[in-house]
Amino acid sequence: MVSRTIPVDPFDLVIFGGTGDLARRKILPSLYRRYVAGQMPPDSRVIGAARTEATSEEYRDQIRSAMEEFLSPAKRDAASVEDFLRHVHYVQIDATGDTGWDDLKTLVRQDRINAFYFSVAPSLFGAIAERLHDRGIANAESRIVVEKPFGKDLETARKLNATLATYFTEQQIYRIDHYLGKETVQNLMAIRFANILFEPLWKTEYIDHVQITVAETVGVDGRGAYYDTSGAMRDMVQNHLMQLLCLIAMEPPYHFDPDAVRDEKLKVIRALEPVRPEDIVRGQYLAGGGKQGYREDAENPDSRTESYIALKAGIANWRWKNTPFYLRTGKRLRARTSEIAVFFRRPPHSIFDDPEGGRENVLVIRLQPNEGINLKVMIKEPGPGGMRLTQVPLDMSFAQALGPDGSDIPDAYERLVMDVIRGNQTLFMRGDEVEAAWAWADPIIQGWEARGDRPHSYEPATSGPEDALMLLHRDGRRWREIKE
Ligand code: BG6
Repeated sequence: MVSRTIPVDPFDLVIFGGTGDLARRKILPSLYRRYVAGQMPPDSRVIGAARTEATSEEYRDQIRSAMEEFLSPAKRDAASVEDFLRHVHYVQIDATGDTGWDDLKTLVRQDRINAFYFSVAPSLFGAIAERLHDRGIANAESRIVVEKPFGKDLETARKLNATLATYFTEQQIYRIDHYLGKETVQNLMAIRFANILFEPLWKTEYIDHVQITVAETVGVDGRGAYYDTSGAMRDMVQNHLMQLLCLIAMEPPYHFDPDAVRDEKLKVIRALEPVRPEDIVRGQYLAGGGKQGYREDAENPDSRTESYIALKAGIANWRWKNTPFYLRTGKRLRARTSEIAVFFRRPPHSIFDDPEGGRENVLVIRLQPNEGINLKVMIKEPGPGGMRLTQVPLDMSFAQALGPDGSDIPDAYERLVMDVIRGNQTLFMRGDEVEAAWAWADPIIQGWEARGDRPHSYEPATSGPEDALMLLHRDGRRWREIKE
């Protein structure tokens, strides 16, 4: 299978925070990969902008080492890195002052696509947007890209939206949720809407419940200061897990078109029921395996911030009324694995004496690692001795099914940055979507803050706090095991 790469028009991409972690770890390596794939037109330019004093040559040195650090040797070669670096420039800039803006204006061409990536603290969004607009560096066709966290609650998200709206239209604003750039997350839509097989069963009459798991083995090491003001609810659930839930639960959009898709996602978020306190379990990892516990990582001995959360969400519409969605995510867990498991209802009547005959089908969509689909079906156990049944997996790994292209899954940022240049907002969050997600999350967070709830401790390299098991046991259900 040959992958199809569609070139984009020549562009200038300015990265504010160009010397920062995200630029070095993700944005520039992703641009390089797209360059190697032949997607970046030869005279396009990437302009790093940051406070640090540096020449373009010095900046290129930094980016060269970032490529070595963050791209495996199989994904880079020295000659093409040098070619790519010829497109890279640097401007020293003061986001809230005057320095550098004239230089940037001279550099950015107005006769082509230009995009401005705000890889900086949200507190700087307003100052940068204002300068780009007022100094005529951005035009009516320019795009701006903003990273999460997009606010810390509904009020701050509204303010951010209002600030950006002063200078740019909604069609110009690209709010990134990198989960939407993951190949397998996009595959959720392909699986649902390019096959006739699942959609007729995709409703509460046939689906008992859904489990969404994003488990990580990493802790919050190095990011404790940010994370302690956020926690798993704000860092993962309000955005990434919410997006997964939307793609599973939304109605078929009339077309794969930015507003058609985002309208349907918004309806799901608005239909979410309030979450009851007894349907939430929060946790904090303890020290173990030679690693510090959460509180030491966060440098906050009294911290009540959760590094793990599990909750039961309900969607109040005809399709999902009696189908709970159980979400969980946490750090320092047993394995790094993200998956969505759709548990179908049991057959209404079993004609077999074997109790196994009454078991449910489960569709598991593995998002990472080893991306693929697994459908558990019942078959007859081979051999004589009566009609004995057993459950087996119909297992498909994308890497195997698609050959070499399937194992070379591009990083989420590769897709998303190119979509910005193409002007396609389908995989970006619209302002009203982000606000609706906060409107759901805010009362949950305010609830535990007002009650003074403390997270439960959990041992590292486990599946999280014991109490999270009860969340499902109580309903006569079980979590899937967290394993590689
Ligand atoms: C980020 C969160 O948005 O997503 C991190 O801030 C988290 O805390 C990361 O580790 C997970 O992303 P991925 O792509 O590794 O699943």
